[in-house]
Amino acid sequence: MDFSAVPKEIKIVEVGPRDGLQNEKTNIPTEVKLDYILKLLESGITSLEVTSFVSPKAIPQMADAKELFTELDARIDIKNYELPCLVPNMKGYETARELGVREIALFSATSDDFTQKNINATVDESFKRMEEVAKAASKDGIKIRGYISTAFGCPYAGNMSSEKLVEVVERFKDFNVYELSIGDTIGVGTPKQVDSYLDDIFKVYPKEKLAMHFHDTRGMALSNIMVALTKGISTFDSSSGGLGGCPYAKGATGNVATEDLLYLVKSFNIVTGVDLDKLTEASQYILEKVQKDTPSKFLKAYLNTGR
Ligand code: HMG
Ligand code: MG
Repeated sequence: MDFSAVPKEIKIVEVGPRDGLQNEKTNIPTEVKLDYILKLLESGITSLEVTSFVSPKAIPQMADAKELFTELDARIDIKNYELPCLVPNMKGYETARELGVREIALFSATSDDFTQKNINATVDESFKRMEEVAKAASKDGIKIRGYISTAFGCPYAGNMSSEKLVEVVERFKDFNVYELSIGDTIGVGTPKQVDSYLDDIFKVYPKEKLAMHFHDTRGMALSNIMVALTKGISTFDSSSGGLGGCPYAKGATGNVATEDLLYLVKSFNIVTGVDLDKLTEASQYILEKVQKDTPSKFLKAYLNTGR
């Protein structure tokens, strides 16, 4: 394997409070979410997805988005962090703007079947919605992060071609997104696929503005990250303790655990700015609250052996 393009530093976008918790059935009090976020920030995380301004009927766990963001804003100087919040339409955008959210995340997918279930729209319709929001955000000086779900496969339509993915990547070029996250929503991507799909994306999109968002459903996340690292990708989404999943993607499990990602990149002396010990404290805190064991192999070993 050629490690020459592996970056010396990477950015971790911690998605535990949003992707990690959105699928949890038990009610998690806003205060607990806030403590979890503060613990994550204490560990050195500087980019963190706080919540989503979506329909509470669609995602009941995010129904406290307003309160959570307001509380967080009162506790920290939000200007010191990247704190994207997911927004599916103008209604969510207006709420975010009124609260002083400085950064939103817009999301679509490669598959109509998925977007229909997830946001009640086709991919085309989702772009019309996003266009309106993106225009407003640009005018209001609000930063935009982009997401493409089902990049490598869809729970309903099956395998997704790289042509389809590249087509959707190109459509995001109109939105002035500072970062575009490529999502393996149901964890079906494999290293060879990631390698060739990224080669195709690089022909139309700058690699410096890409992030990879792997779910570890089939245990491929770290192998896929390794491939992305060797290709020079330097931003990765992950969820502390490996929590997560999308309620509209049958069988989707957690994001790659931030701990697993940290253990891997530490072996290459890649700088992250995140303190692993402190991060595990945040994970233990939230895992205890949701009464779940971690799916992270590293975190299990760490809790058993201290390393
Ligand atoms: P809809 O039913 O077509 O929306 O849902 P609507 O406009 O007809 O409105 C229906 C109701 O929702 C109305 O309320 C609206 O006011 C309300 P009612 O009159 O019935 O009381 N509503 C809202 N409420 C709060 N905030 C809003 C909002 N919009 C409408 N923004 C809609 C369409 C998009 C709203 C809905 O389908 C939705 O909220 N979906 C979100 C689904 C979601 O959050 N999925 C998970 C995130 S994506 C993901 O996890 C993948 C990712 O991690 C990457 C990867 O892994 O691939 C990012
Ligand atoms: Mg996800």
